[in-house]
Amino acid sequence: MDGTIGGDLTARARAHSNIALAKYWGKRDATLNVPAVGSISITLDALHTDTTVSFDTGLADDELWLDGREQPVGKVAVVLDLVRERAGLDLRARVVSENNFPTGAGLASSASGFAALAVAATAAAGIEATPRESSVLARRGSASAARSIFGGYAELHAGSSPDGSDSFAEPLLEGEAWPLSVVVAITDPGPKTVSSTAGMQATSASSPFYRPWVESAPAGLDRMRAAILAHDLETVGELAEHSCLALHSIMLTTRPALIYWNAATVAGIHAVRALRAGGLPVYFTIDAGPQLKALCRPEDAAAVSAALAAIPGVAETRTSTLGPAARVVSKS
Ligand code: ADP
Ligand code: DP6
Repeated sequence: MDGTIGGDLTARARAHSNIALAKYWGKRDATLNVPAVGSISITLDALHTDTTVSFDTGLADDELWLDGREQPVGKVAVVLDLVRERAGLDLRARVVSENNFPTGAGLASSASGFAALAVAATAAAGIEATPRESSVLARRGSASAARSIFGGYAELHAGSSPDGSDSFAEPLLEGEAWPLSVVVAITDPGPKTVSSTAGMQATSASSPFYRPWVESAPAGLDRMRAAILAHDLETVGELAEHSCLALHSIMLTTRPALIYWNAATVAGIHAVRALRAGGLPVYFTIDAGPQLKALCRPEDAAAVSAALAAIPGVAETRTSTLGPAARVVSKS
């Protein structure tokens, strides 16, 4: 395609956010955005991004409009350049995107955002991409986005190839095969002061526990994968809490320290542990931000939501089931 043929090169895609149960933090190759460790996540139905990409002869530069405001294009241009190269297209693009949840707040907007972008840009350029190719493309924008190409349970491989071609996500288990719920307790919808990308760069440069984190990751992934395939909530929950706390340990020992929690986050951890002591199988995880996510059975979600909503400082709770894969919703 040379971009001079008639027709509107526009496509719109939806992708869902995801939450890692076995976390990623740190890069094997910063330029190609290859993670240093593999990760395993669940895709969330309730949190999504809608992105429209239009390659347009009238544009002198790429544009990004996020939640109604023009933003610097940043890594969006990296993904667009890769699509243009593959399609043989020499047109700039307008990207219009909306997240239905707070951006840059630890709810994985970069995951749903770059997965939606990869799928929409590929479709708009008129090229076919396998889910694996879309996953590699999304990873170039944000590594967690590689997982949001898939629904249900997904695993992102760190890979070992210097060009990053074997660092892609793939489905581990369909959501319908083992439906779980996640209650998200939003304690502060504002954007974080240190982005995930900057935070992990600082951790790898300064935490004395970063190396052990990388070295212990493969064994943790093996255990998490096996527990998910066995539908063993107790083991998945215990491993997820350990991965989360190990992640926050390397954040806390970064110089300067990365402290993403606030008082309500800590209160949420104790509330989840108290519910569990009372017999409810519920487990917490927290990413690079102060929001707490509680993993539980769908039939327990209302009780978990009520307990978290009662914590001073919890502004809102959102309950999600497991979500579907990223997909094109319209094309012209
Ligand atoms: P989060 O916890 O929300 O993923 P990050 O710091 O990892 O926070 O990433 C936030 C960044 O991701 C934003 O500053 C923006 O650059 C990018 N981003 C978020 N949403 C979108 C989107 N819908 N489309 C493109 N980029 C996005
Ligand atoms: C704590 O994928 O947002 O949520 O690749 O630099 O864009 P970049 O980072 P990003 O980091 C996610 C970190 C995490 C854990 C996880 O999702 O695995």
